Amino acid sequence: MNICVFASGGGSNFRAILEARRDNFLNSGIKLLITNNSNCGAVLIAKEFGVDVFHISRKVYPDLPGDEYGKIFLEKLGDYNINLIALAGYMKAVEPAVVKAYTNRILNIHPALLPSFGGKGMYGINVHKAVIQSGVKVSGLTIHLVDEEYDRGRILFQKSVNVEENDDEYTLQKKILQFEHKYYPFIIKKIEEGEIGLDE
Ligand code: GAR
Repeated sequence: MNICVFASGGGSNFRAILEARRDNFLNSGIKLLITNNSNCGAVLIAKEFGVDVFHISRKVYPDLPGDEYGKIFLEKLGDYNINLIALAGYMKAVEPAVVKAYTNRILNIHPALLPSFGGKGMYGINVHKAVIQSGVKVSGLTIHLVDEEYDRGRILFQKSVNVEENDDEYTLQKKILQFEHKYYPFIIKKIEEGEIGLDE
């Protein structure tokens, strides 16, 4: 597969995927990073690993109609023959044209057990804050397919992580991130091997 990662933040999941490729755990090529934030950590990681970066955001194209804006993504993805997209801390909604063209070919990792603690605004540390405030004893991570609705696509994998008495949002984030780094490459490998079917 030719993979494109979409990321907006620190990029630690992006790094985990690149390391899995470097160590030949993954066979797929990580061909491109798409980001809405040209100053984010993920861009530095792409440079470190020699991965091309495409920066695109509404700030760059404020007046373009939605379908035209979506086309820019599709052209770039086409240029790199991308057949799998992995969202890794991407803060924006994926353009509808991309969701349509890549049906069942877009993965997302979410740092909680969906359908709990998902939806708009549930991103990064906000998720862990909401988990801690709710008082639940178990959180975790979810890897799922992306469709038109936030955090609602078919769940491919979940891993639970206990929330301890003395956890705050930061300790919980740290614990869950470690599992994200392990399981995101692992699930991509299962997809490569056909053990997880995307079209079922
Ligand atoms: C990760 O915890 C990821 O699960 C989360 O953002 C963080 C990105 O960290 N994604 C979401 O909250 C999506 N709704 P990273 O930039 O270090 O990979």
